Amino acid sequence: MDTQAFLASVPSLFQGDPRSTPPADARWQGFVDGPEAVTGFTGPNELAVLHRAASLLPPDEVYLEVGTFKGRSLCATVQDATDQKFFAMENFLEFGMAGQEARAELEANLARWAGSADVTLLEGDCFKLMAEPGLLPDPVGVYFYDGEHTLLSHYLALAVVEPLLADEALVLVDDATWPVVQRAHHQFIKRHSGWQVVERWDAREADDPLWANGLHALVYRRPPGARRTLGRTDEVLRYYQAHVQDRLNSVAWKAAARFPGPAKEAARWVMGRSRKID
Ligand SMILES: C[S@@+](CC[C@H](N)C(=O)[O-])C[C@H]1O[C@@H](n2cnc3c(N)ncnc32)[C@H](O)[C@@H]1O
Repeated sequence: MDTQAFLASVPSLFQGDPRSTPPADARWQGFVDGPEAVTGFTGPNELAVLHRAASLLPPDEVYLEVGTFKGRSLCATVQDATDQKFFAMENFLEFGMAGQEARAELEANLARWAGSADVTLLEGDCFKLMAEPGLLPDPVGVYFYDGEHTLLSHYLALAVVEPLLADEALVLVDDATWPVVQRAHHQFIKRHSGWQVVERWDAREADDPLWANGLHALVYRRPPGARRTLGRTDEVLRYYQAHVQDRLNSVAWKAAARFPGPAKEAARWVMGRSRKID
């Protein structure tokens, strides 16, 4: 993926300062609150950037999204796609999503908006899926992470995808104005070479109408001779997340569905500061 060409092309998506100007193409706002909107969490400026990234994907690389929910980001991203291959990972766990019902809603949105695009939906935990050998046919040129938002999951979101990335790849991370995401990026980049944060489209407020909770762009350039496997510590962390934390999350989301009031209050106490946008 030519990440320089991508970054150079982003200003043309907006008529003014991207932080405070909506996208020039009105389609992206339509996905958020138009008459045929797709339920979701991404803002119109994020959709404009994701769509541009996908449009620059070389034919021998794939696009990977983690955290698809009901498909807003994916449906917008695949508009105008010609021969790009898109993969999406979703475990249907968060926000009280109820298994097959949620999958049906996502599939209906994809049928409507992404009918002609080459999209493969991979159901399951991304930290298990990404470690499956041979799951994707080509290296990942563009990766969009919008899955679980804890320190460990954001660290692993980069660690686990690294072996799958093309030698030059673009990584877009949602909710990146949250301190917890930036801490995870800092911790990860300290321990791994080839990574750089190249752009920060920060939210001006929580749930910013243009950028939701912010989008950061990272570039990965594989250093010569770098291994395409996880280091030992990262593999232990991945194992914990995929086999222990995963179960705890499942219990927590079930409890949240039964007792929404107390769960909201507990989340405010546990995550309040790590997700604060001033
Ligand atoms: C914020 S939502 C995604 C929003 C979506 N991108 C949009 O545009 O509206 C996060 C999604 O990530 C999914 N998720 C969380 N942890 C995951 C995991 N470990 N593997 C796969 N999906 C996960 C959740 O079920 C949820 O649907």
